[in-house]
Amino acid sequence: MKIFMDTADVAELAAYVDWGVVWGVTTNPSLIAKTGRPQEEVIPKIAALVSGPVSAEVIATDAAGMVEEAKKLSAIAPNVVIKIPCTAEGLRATKVLAYLGIPTNVTLIFSLSQAMLAARAGATYVSPFIGRLDDIGEDGVKLVADIVAAFKLYQIETQVIAASIRSVKHVEEVMLTGCHIATIPTKVLAQMIKHELTDKGLAAFIADYEKSKKA
Ligand code: E4P
Repeated sequence: MKIFMDTADVAELAAYVDWGVVWGVTTNPSLIAKTGRPQEEVIPKIAALVSGPVSAEVIATDAAGMVEEAKKLSAIAPNVVIKIPCTAEGLRATKVLAYLGIPTNVTLIFSLSQAMLAARAGATYVSPFIGRLDDIGEDGVKLVADIVAAFKLYQIETQVIAASIRSVKHVEEVMLTGCHIATIPTKVLAQMIKHELTDKGLAAFIADYEKSKKA
């Protein structure tokens, strides 16, 4: 499973890129809004920090408008991927962008049917939203597992990005589904490296080293 960061915060991203584990990035209009800067300014900075795909979302809701925006966003950098909402107009835009060779990440996916339609329209990636499904009492991780299984069954090459991740438990559960990518918020990525026994063990090793130096 590859790791993306789910953030538009360039400074935060830069700090974690140093870890050597972040392949790509996903953004959305809400994450961009938090930066207080326009998407056209933020995406080039993010795209320069990682070698993998960087998802930038369209705002238009009609297919023609989405395609126009997609062309502009995709000209920003070669690793920009266009995030398209999973609607009928979104499918139309996805089909055109696939024909033009522009990679897409079909987002706001909440069912297996939506994932299959997006894949058949030519999506490069699909993003099922785990946390938002859990919020309404459904099982987000199960949806990821179902999409992975169905795509495998029909030898579909579209990659599955587990999105709307809220906890380390979510990350560990989606790892076992065989999903291709998890896009992880900064807070959760920071928690993933922590274990109290690592901290305790390290403190004991350092203390013992200091003792042996004095002996
Ligand atoms: C990423 O592609 C999604 O936009 C993001 O994971 C949504 O997360 P949220 O449900 O926490 O807003």
